[in-house]
Amino acid sequence: MQNFVFHNPTKVLFGRQTLAAIGSETRLLGKRALLVYGQESLRASGTLAQIKGHLHQAGVSCAEFGGIQANPLLSKVRQGILKVRAEEIEVIIGAGGGSVIDTAKAIAAGSMVAHDVWKFFTGKKSVRATLPLLAVSTLPGSGSEMNHGMVLTHDQSREKFGFGHRLLHPQTAILDPELTFSLPAEQTAYGAVDAICHILEFYLSTQDPDTPVQDRLMEGLINNGMEACERCLADPCDYEARASLMWTACLALNGLTAAGLGRIEMVMHLLEHSLSGLYDTPHGAGLAALLPGWLHHFARSRPERLAQLGAGLFPRSGTGDDRERRLNHCIEAFLGWLEAIQVPTSLEALQIPSQDHPRIAAHTSGLAKVWRMRQYSPAFFEDILQGCR
Ligand code: NZQ
Ligand code: ZN
Repeated sequence: MQNFVFHNPTKVLFGRQTLAAIGSETRLLGKRALLVYGQESLRASGTLAQIKGHLHQAGVSCAEFGGIQANPLLSKVRQGILKVRAEEIEVIIGAGGGSVIDTAKAIAAGSMVAHDVWKFFTGKKSVRATLPLLAVSTLPGSGSEMNHGMVLTHDQSREKFGFGHRLLHPQTAILDPELTFSLPAEQTAYGAVDAICHILEFYLSTQDPDTPVQDRLMEGLINNGMEACERCLADPCDYEARASLMWTACLALNGLTAAGLGRIEMVMHLLEHSLSGLYDTPHGAGLAALLPGWLHHFARSRPERLAQLGAGLFPRSGTGDDRERRLNHCIEAFLGWLEAIQVPTSLEALQIPSQDHPRIAAHTSGLAKVWRMRQYSPAFFEDILQGCR
């Protein structure tokens, strides 16, 4: 196990009716709130009205900033920063999925600086302070509600860049599983795939050969994410299943799973951010489509590690001496699960033709430079894409 610092300052309020605490929790952070939310779902489910009611009762004034789209845009963040300044906002609330919470984070950080907020994402500037931030998660997947990351797309260049800083942890996260009952099946599945892929990236890229605590933790979370997702799809109002998926997604990317693994890489995310930047695909759908090529890459480059994962996830694939057979069984079992939850399992299913591979690979290489992963060439990315047709 490698040395690590685990520091996650986000206070989590988890469970039924925890949304009712949003007024008092926000009041601890400020009296004038900017409420950031998405397009339709919050209004349709009645959650928006509930939040406004609780804030009003607690004496918090609320300026609304809705209309955040999936794969959120830089231009919207810039508008939000102007609104914060015009209305002398003291605290930011992001209520929605990862796109909303990431936008709220970027507004919270961008409001504190004179330079353009995009400079954080290109690595030209770092965060020194943020407005206080409260997150209400309505979609388990990204983990943004309890982590220090944010991802934005540049409207013109379509670069989809991520940035992490310890000050971007929300002060408070409200996780009420009942808020996720309204999720459509495909968003539930995409979120589950995203959470599972966060763990897979860590599990397969660590170079430390002896990390039993983390391995059991990650295998358990992946197993749990798969099972909870199936239960949510069978019954969208199964509270225990929704709760299980919500907490799994949160733990997958809140620093816990990666602690002690040493250097880890998120190559599949690197590629996916190009897909969703260029084609506006849902993040989880892009990851699902990339998984076949990516797993085959690991079958070649880290067969022992993939075999261990297979044994942890699909016990029947873990037996026998024939490693080749065990690896194939692991990949087939994974792809079978993706098909069962009805997510795309190829680039073709996302209508992305193979002629586009060089363009995607070149775009990904640009992002790799910002993520300091220059060792990966466009040819490497094209090779993975070939495996995802
Ligand atoms: O816009 P509305 O109408 O609210 O609908 C949203 C949106 O269309 C809908 N939705 C959310 N909660 C709902 C709901 N519909 C019904 N009921 C609910 N309770 O779901 C759709 C997708 O929302 P979005 O926020 O885009 O999804 P997700 O949470 O998967 O977030 C994806 C974004 O997070 C980034 C991704 O790149 C992508 O931009 N990521 C952020 C990370 C981070 N901050 O650490 C890490 C991740 O790897 C990821 O990159
Ligand atoms: Zn992700």
